[in-house]
Amino acid sequence: MKNKLVLVTGGAGYIGSHTAVELMNEGYDVVIIDNLSNSEKSVLNGIAEITGRNPYFEQFDICDKKKLENFFRVYKKLDAIIHFAAYKAVGESVEKPLKYYQNNLNTLMNLLEGMVKHEVPHFVFSSSATVYGQPDELPVTETAPFKPADSPYGNTKQIAEEMIRDTVNASPGLQAISLRYFNPIGAHPSALIGELPRGVPNNLVPFITQTAIGLREELKVFGDDYNTPDGTAIRDYINVVDLAKAHVVSIKRMIEHKSKDRLEIFNLGTGKGSSVMEIVKAFEKSTGVKINYKIVGRRTGDVESVYADTKYANNELGWKAETGLEETLLSAWNWEKNIRKKA
Ligand code: NAD
Ligand code: WQD
Repeated sequence: MKNKLVLVTGGAGYIGSHTAVELMNEGYDVVIIDNLSNSEKSVLNGIAEITGRNPYFEQFDICDKKKLENFFRVYKKLDAIIHFAAYKAVGESVEKPLKYYQNNLNTLMNLLEGMVKHEVPHFVFSSSATVYGQPDELPVTETAPFKPADSPYGNTKQIAEEMIRDTVNASPGLQAISLRYFNPIGAHPSALIGELPRGVPNNLVPFITQTAIGLREELKVFGDDYNTPDGTAIRDYINVVDLAKAHVVSIKRMIEHKSKDRLEIFNLGTGKGSSVMEIVKAFEKSTGVKINYKIVGRRTGDVESVYADTKYANNELGWKAETGLEETLLSAWNWEKNIRKKA
């Protein structure tokens, strides 16, 4: 029987590349669309080296409707789309909100329109725990209400989920799963693919690995006066390969008609919160490398504590994050060492 064909938008990016690998390992054929606005073409070599085969690759901007229409005509029989392509820098989205609304919403609209027109039945969307803001109750469940978005980026995820809901309601042939990621970290154990932040990283773990390798002088720990056991903020850090696997499970679920609803929403986290200082200590323990750090003031817009209630994803999706924090941080470190060797 012919392999199922999945379109992975943003598949040269951090989470998309790991997901392409897991799909291909499970026998799916993958076509990637990426305009390489935040990634490198060489990522495709990493995917090929790990899986032993090449994904199809089309380089263009999904905001370009004509090119996308042409793509749908050429790749006639897509079984599913996983949509990662978006801008994701929270701070930049505050400075340049329209850049974010333009890219994150137009890519989604164009894809949904194309899916309805070309009868592609299954859609997986990269959502974010950012839709919850600072939740009233922890761990946070999928039924917790959206809080006013902290940033235009966060708002694009809230609007996107609503757009998907409305489109699914109006399109009997369309089914979707929205996955709300907590804090994805780490890299593939082969160290052949991983996160490639441009410039100074905003996120904690790339900042730690760049400090460890000597690219940054010291890590600034943003606030130690939160109402948490050690005073630093708490997040739910999830291994990127575990996260990628949840996408494969979601695709299978829809193809095998196991969904309970035509739009389902799942939290992707570990269920365990870790503080910034716990991450620093776990990194030091697993790698043996000391991190130079300094406590500074809180970062504007940061929430105190967020971690997932994973019961629904564990029981209903039949997926669980399995990799331990130290192993994940070691994979981030191995990736950092590998890219600096190449640079
Ligand atoms: P990433 O920037 O590494 O990957 C996104 C990819 O999409 C990049 O390769 C980029 O070149 C491509 N892209 C962007 N706009 C495009 C367009 N218009 N046309 C074609 N390609 C385009 O980001 P990531 O960390 O892999 O995130 C993937 C998705 O997951 C995003 O939607 C992001 O918002 C979401 N998400 C990420 C995190 C996180 O912490 N990394 C957390 C929650 C949700
Ligand atoms: C984690 C913790 C920081 C850097 C962001 C987005 C969110 C989602 C994931 C996409 C916080 C602290 C960080 C540093 C620090 N992305 N920190 N020093 O803020 O939880 O989430 O990425 O959807 O939308 O907002 O992740 O990695 O930036 O920060 O002390 O140099 O580490 O204050 O407590 P965050 P992060």
